Amino acid sequence: MSDPSLDNYSPDRGQWGSRLGFILAAAGSAVGLGNIWKFPYITGENGGGLFVLVYLVCIALVGLPIMVGELMIGRAARKQPVGAFTALSGPSSGWRIVGWLGIITGFIILSYYIVVAGWAMDYTLKSVANFTDPIAETASAEAKAYRATTPLEEMRAALVVDRANRATVEKVAEVRGEAPRSAWKAWEIYQKALTEAAAPGGAGVATAEAALLEDAEFARKIDLVRPVAARIDKLRADAKAEAAAFYAAAEPKQIRDAAETLDRRHHIADAVGKAFGTVVTDGWTGTFWALLFMLITVLVVAGGVSSGIERVSRVLMPLLVGILVVMVAYSAFQPGFGPAVSFVFEPNPSRLKASGVLEALGHAFFTLSLGMGAMITYGSYQAKKENLVRQSILIAGLDTAIALLACLMLFPIIFSYGQEPAAGPGLVFKSMPLAFAEIGSGGMLLAILFFALLVVAALTSAISLLEVVASYFIDQRGWSRGKAAWIIGGVIFLFGVPSAFSFDPDFALASWEPTFGKSFFDTMDYLASNWLLPIGGLLVAIYAGWFMPKRIRRAELEGMSAAVIQGWLGLIRYVAPALVALVILQKVGILTLD
Ligand code: PHE
Repeated sequence: MSDPSLDNYSPDRGQWGSRLGFILAAAGSAVGLGNIWKFPYITGENGGGLFVLVYLVCIALVGLPIMVGELMIGRAARKQPVGAFTALSGPSSGWRIVGWLGIITGFIILSYYIVVAGWAMDYTLKSVANFTDPIAETASAEAKAYRATTPLEEMRAALVVDRANRATVEKVAEVRGEAPRSAWKAWEIYQKALTEAAAPGGAGVATAEAALLEDAEFARKIDLVRPVAARIDKLRADAKAEAAAFYAAAEPKQIRDAAETLDRRHHIADAVGKAFGTVVTDGWTGTFWALLFMLITVLVVAGGVSSGIERVSRVLMPLLVGILVVMVAYSAFQPGFGPAVSFVFEPNPSRLKASGVLEALGHAFFTLSLGMGAMITYGSYQAKKENLVRQSILIAGLDTAIALLACLMLFPIIFSYGQEPAAGPGLVFKSMPLAFAEIGSGGMLLAILFFALLVVAALTSAISLLEVVASYFIDQRGWSRGKAAWIIGGVIFLFGVPSAFSFDPDFALASWEPTFGKSFFDTMDYLASNWLLPIGGLLVAIYAGWFMPKRIRRAELEGMSAAVIQGWLGLIRYVAPALVALVILQKVGILTLD
């Protein structure tokens, strides 16, 4: 075969207009809900510091070399994933399956991605309608009434609890990370059952306990949590004693003022929590927003590579960084900033479980858009042979910086309000509005900015997801760009409807959850992030490191120093595949770590 990059080049195929345009589009794909929505909440769930460090190592050792590999494959072949492997290794090559896998993965991720993006759109609109304002007003009125009717001692007690909670929340989140999440789930069930058993009419604590602990796996989990829970209790008890001493000395007026503020914040938190619940549990609303979001995505993709994707990214990416910097600046002046910085950046060796390491690795794929051919596709629109390693470092660096900034924006607010950092997927949607409601009228502007930021980040990523699937039909099946974008977008939207209805009690897919143990939405995310992306990434690494024709690889690496090339080869041939294989083995259950 002669040089495939010349053979298969068709002049009317899309191309990036400039080097910067490509970098912005690729960074736009990488920076998305993964950075602002998912990364902070999994960092919270995994106890902060060390998890972040492990994630950074995964980006450097696994993500970066695979990104170079994907861009290289795409650029050499000038084809989307299925075509790329055919072009490079011949029409009968089994590597084509990797391309197919990517298309399926893109299809699945986009189907639930539009649902989360839709929630962000709903919140943007709510912010424009100033939804936090009436919440703040009602809460103020309720807090005044509370002040007028509540005995001083009761107020003092509430303040003590709150002060103790705020003093320990960061530490508790860190310590919690010492036991795996599945064990904490078991612990919750256990505690609940014991409380019920102890109530009048219950079975009695001893009987209930014996029945639960009969299950060996369950008992093992409880044993894991028990010492950790005891340490947390101790932390809390100490903090409570300190807080009690603090308020014992306070004046009655001080107490009333502080208690009123506290009560107002509780009401705000309740109302905001309910607002998020309504969006998520209303399938019709969710479907409506997902449809609207998909429509915008389709329009951009139909617009083409340089006049659609690149043009939009050029405007949206700088905007996104700007909004984020404003939000971080606000957070830097919050009392929770100090604890947040130490939560995110202070690695504490005893705080992380192996399952957290594996989760960090899986997220490295998701956040860099790797393992499904998005970077192969974007690389295929590159005309000039720029330095691949430098480009990849730039894209991955930008993505990582934004993920860390998102944490520095979110955690100060969470800690200032004594919120739980391990709150899960609702973290961003619940915690940020608390701050907005407190700020008052300026908060409305920040709220609009913030949720618009989420939508923007999601849009540039969704575009790349749709592009991977659509470009197959454009390149391989000869469809026009418009036809491919509209039809594929429509089909993926339909497939996303069950995700939008996943949390709607009226339309619950009755047999899904009992059968698969997760909602439809979570099943899709789990399937894609934990299986398809790591498997796709592993195969790409093996292909780029071992099977890609040497001549082509050499041509793509031309002009780079021997040390860089050797370093990359070492990572993509040995380190990256070994680490990813480790994740997969653990997931299969051959290797049990938690
Ligand atoms: N990287 C995107 C994010 O962080 C998600 C994504 C995954 C986009 C895979 C494209 C391909 O949100």
